[in-house]
Amino acid sequence: MKIDKIVKIFNQKAEGYDNEEIEKFRRLFVENIIEEINLNAEDIVIDIGTGTGALAIPLAKKVKKVIAIDISKKMLEIARMKAEKEGICNIEFKHDNFLNSHINECSVDLIVSNLALHHLSNKNKEKAIKIMRKILKKDGKVIIGDIMFFFNPNKEPKKLAFIKKIIERLFPNSAYSLISALNNEHPSQTKDLKLLFEKNGFCTKVKMFLPILGIIYAVHKRF
Ligand SMILES: C[S@@+](CC[C@H](N)C(=O)[O-])C[C@H]1O[C@@H](n2cnc3c(N)ncnc32)[C@H](O)[C@@H]1O
Repeated sequence: MKIDKIVKIFNQKAEGYDNEEIEKFRRLFVENIIEEINLNAEDIVIDIGTGTGALAIPLAKKVKKVIAIDISKKMLEIARMKAEKEGICNIEFKHDNFLNSHINECSVDLIVSNLALHHLSNKNKEKAIKIMRKILKKDGKVIIGDIMFFFNPNKEPKKLAFIKKIIERLFPNSAYSLISALNNEHPSQTKDLKLLFEKNGFCTKVKMFLPILGIIYAVHKRF
C-alpha cells in the first residue's frame, strides 16, 4: 500500500483506534513484548510506527528517552495527549517516515515496533533493517511484534482461510482491519524476516503468539 494511503487510513482511524474491540487483544500482545525486554533506566529507545503510543508510553516510564515515530499526525496527536495525561515528558514524538528519518548513528539501545512493519514492502523492510543496524549502539536490540506467517499461506490456503474465520468470530466488528492487513499489506513469513535480519548482521530469535502473529528479537553484534 502506498504511504499516502496508509497515512489517510490511520488519520481516519486515530480517534477510535484505542476503542476498537481488538484493543484488549492488542494490549495483551504489547504486554507480552514489554515483559520480554530487559530494560535499563539509561536506555534510548525508538518505537517505529508508534500509533497511539501502545509501546512508547509504558516504555517511557522505564527508560531515559523514547523516540516515537509515526507517519500519521492524528495517531501521534492521540499518543501525545495520552502521554501528557500520564505526566510523561521523556517521549520525543517524531512525525516522519522511519525510512527517511534522520537518527544519529550508534545512538540507540533498543528499537521496538508493534504491528507496523507489515506495512512495508520486502524491499523497504530490508531498507528499514539496514537503518536499524546503523542507528543501534553496539549490542543494540530490536524487538518487533507483528503480523507474520508461521506457515506458507500460498501452500496452505485452507489454514489461512480457517484463521480468517476465527478472527471474524472473535472480533466481529474489527476483523476487517486485521484481515485487510493479511490480504493487502506485506506480512512476511517469519523465516524470511529472520533471514533478512541475519543477512544484515543480527542474531535472531522468534516467538509465536498465533500462527499469524509473532515477535522477533534481533541483536546486532558490532565487532
Ligand atoms: C497498526 S498501527 C500500530 C500502532 C501501534 N504500534 C500499536 O501497537 O498500537 C501501525 C502504525 O504504523 C504507522 N506507520 C506505517 N508505516 C510507517 C512508516 N514507514 N514510518 C512510520 N510509521 C509508519 C502507521 O501510521 C500506524 O500508526
